[in-house]
Amino acid sequence: MKDAIEHYCDILIIGSGAAGLTLALQVAQFAKVTVLSKAQLNDGSTFYAQGGIAAVFDKKDSIESHVNDTLIAGANLCDRHIVEMTAQQAKSSLEWLIDCGADFDQEISAKGEQRYHLTQEGGHSHRRILHAADATGKEVQTTLQNQVTKHPNITILERYNAVDLITSTEQDSKRVIGAYVWNRQDEHVETIYANHIALATGGASKVYQYTSNPDVASGDGIAMAWRAGCSVANLEFNQFHPTSLYHPQSNNFLLSEALRGEGAVLKRPDGSRFMDDFDTRGELAPRDVVARAIDYEMKRLGVDCLYLDISHKTAEFITAHFPTIYQHCLSLGIDITKEPMPVVPAAHYTCGGVTTNDRGATDISGLYAIGEVAYTGLHGANRMASNSLLECLVFAKAAAEDIQKNFIANTHDITIAPWDDSQVTDSDEEVVIQHNWHELRLFMWDYVGIVRTDKRLARAKSRVELLQSEIHEYYKHFKVSNNLLELRNLVQVAQLIIDCAIARKESIGLHYNLDYPEPLEKSQPTVLTPSHKSD
Ligand code: FAD
Ligand code: SIN
Repeated sequence: MKDAIEHYCDILIIGSGAAGLTLALQVAQFAKVTVLSKAQLNDGSTFYAQGGIAAVFDKKDSIESHVNDTLIAGANLCDRHIVEMTAQQAKSSLEWLIDCGADFDQEISAKGEQRYHLTQEGGHSHRRILHAADATGKEVQTTLQNQVTKHPNITILERYNAVDLITSTEQDSKRVIGAYVWNRQDEHVETIYANHIALATGGASKVYQYTSNPDVASGDGIAMAWRAGCSVANLEFNQFHPTSLYHPQSNNFLLSEALRGEGAVLKRPDGSRFMDDFDTRGELAPRDVVARAIDYEMKRLGVDCLYLDISHKTAEFITAHFPTIYQHCLSLGIDITKEPMPVVPAAHYTCGGVTTNDRGATDISGLYAIGEVAYTGLHGANRMASNSLLECLVFAKAAAEDIQKNFIANTHDITIAPWDDSQVTDSDEEVVIQHNWHELRLFMWDYVGIVRTDKRLARAKSRVELLQSEIHEYYKHFKVSNNLLELRNLVQVAQLIIDCAIARKESIGLHYNLDYPEPLEKSQPTVLTPSHKSD
């Protein structure tokens, strides 16, 4: 057995997307920080974000309007205080990012003034999305990385998976004291001691067969928090983006909602439009409405995809606003200046997550959850486009302030037992992981997807319970690997999604159950609390 490897820091941040890196920069002013990243530093949803970040920059727009649009998109299941706080802090959060070096698209107004170009997306009643062409996430991630990598108080550990949180209990109250982490390079579990830990691990959309998300989106933070004793909420609200590219060599590539914001229209294979049959807002209805309309039309017509068409705009306009999408499609033989793009919906965003307060604090002392991993109450039953990167920025700042207020430096005065793998062996049956992985993602897509029924959810529940016990058994006997760690987390999150979906006896926002097609008079968030909470 190798010697146990230990690391010490004041604040451990698990995840290196917009949420994790923003927090790192803010807390590094007063603490020693370690940032953990499961793959390469830039490998998260942030890097792939296209459309932009919502904030009120136009004088004709207002915070009230941003708040109202968010509440409407969220089917009034949002927490109004959180929505107001986020909309109010949007502009200053973006100005902070711009001060860090982010370069968003600008234009010259009719009066000859330089100003930010604001694009439009579904649910927004004004143009209010700052963006860097159609690669906003790359700009955000690169800007933050440039700052983080040169900061003397920040240590970066790439290719490290957080496995589980470690807590201690004093007077019935749990406090986080560290985490076990798996060094993918050396294939060894190490211990990190920290008095404050922030989960910034992103979402769980990889639980579905088809997703716009990168591989790292396996819900690790939600599963770890649940195992540690935190409550989770609203996991039935998984957002399906209406338009991902349908192509054998490039499934799951996102076709930004900003395309529709700039005039792209949805069409059936015969070229006819259909969105006006479903909603007066047409192509700019919120995502849940558009994704359900596409799903309905695909099933009704028995076709594999529908089409998104922007070819009526000039080639100059298209290539200036959507260079990444244009080039990507062209590389596959689709010239979007001349022809429509084949589209299908794909799992895109986890609206629920680890429950937090308005400072990102969870049920466990010292433990925070920020970004897509968290349930803050901002998104309600459906997230409005471009409110997610915004949430990362706003809540990273709120968490930083809370940590500073309650800061406890790491004095190395506790001992954590090293990871014990003396009872496990190398796996002799990798096929179990592969099989369960595919089975899980397929039944989640088929039974817990855009349209649900009680019967489908019951089928999903019995399957997930079987897989959970099989994977748990496997985990006890074999050495960890990336696939095993992710599968263990995915199956946990799948079970939580199914339980939330079963608990909601209505259709609202992203949760649509044919057995309860109407919303209840008074809808409430679904909160699940682990039975082992008081362990
Ligand atoms: P992420 O950026 O996903 O980062 C998660 C990090 O956690 C990664 O570094 C990962 O390696 C790490 N991690 C995960 N598990 C572990 C573990 N066990 N151990 C160690 N590290 C771990 N939102 C908008 O507001 N506007 C947009 O235009 C937009 N476009 C999008 C386009 C696409 C294609 C996608 C997929 C999403 C888009 N979204 C958009 C959503 C938005 O990008 C994400 O919600 C947001 O970036 C999440 O940021 P995050 O910091 O919470 O997580
Ligand atoms: C997109 O560009 O369509 C994604 C925007 C988002 O998810 O907020």
